[in-house]
Amino acid sequence: MVRRPLFVANWKMNKTMAETKEFLNTFNTYNLPASSDVAICAPFIDLPVLADQAKVAVGAEDVYPADKGAFTGEISAEMLKECAVRYVIIGHSERRQLLGESDAFVAEKYHYCTKNGLVPILCVGESLEQREAGEAEAWCKAQLDAVFTGAETLPEEVIVAYEPIWAIGTGKTATSADAQQMIGALRAHLAGLIGDEQAASARLLYGGSAKASNIRELMAQPDIDGGLIGGASLAPDSFLALINEGSADID
Ligand code: PGA
Repeated sequence: MVRRPLFVANWKMNKTMAETKEFLNTFNTYNLPASSDVAICAPFIDLPVLADQAKVAVGAEDVYPADKGAFTGEISAEMLKECAVRYVIIGHSERRQLLGESDAFVAEKYHYCTKNGLVPILCVGESLEQREAGEAEAWCKAQLDAVFTGAETLPEEVIVAYEPIWAIGTGKTATSADAQQMIGALRAHLAGLIGDEQAASARLLYGGSAKASNIRELMAQPDIDGGLIGGASLAPDSFLALINEGSADID
């Protein structure tokens, strides 16, 4: 099964519109490797700028699972699609932890994306305590169960990002062997939930302090298909370096 590598920037709560334009002024001058897909997920306010000027796919960092109504501060799929949004990050650990998003709410958002032609990037990952207690794999599998058990329809592309919470923004990357072990286990588990073929074509990303210096080794693992990139995506040159390194061994 050939899966195209996918490198997704997760800008989080960084970059004003002016900073987004500045990023694109440089990033748009780069020749990106044709073998890989690239997307930028950005704050809502930056999406119209990306829609107008970005040469890569546009993504949002969240969506609310309703078409319209009394949901102060929230945003719908239709609103996002008007900004050329294709991908939406769903269930990032920062939203689960800081904003109390439950597995059930994450599942609702996931399926809302699917029904509305957006491609959800589902994030799963364990805390350091869970890893040390030997519970990491069971925890991440349960996060998949919460979304995929009994799912009637799947998105055009199934994308899951494994992001160990202890590796996010900390400079501590999971070793490529640990990341492969988890991501391989998640792909096998996905097969039981969505079928062998869908699991084999799903793109499974690693996230958590991924950067140009470690992405190549991560990408050499059989089940790792790309990265969800925070800090290293904020400057055009470091994001380019990561994409180039991550694509270096792809034909
Ligand atoms: P990081 O963030 O690359 O800065 O660790 C990744 C993420 O949270 O998606």
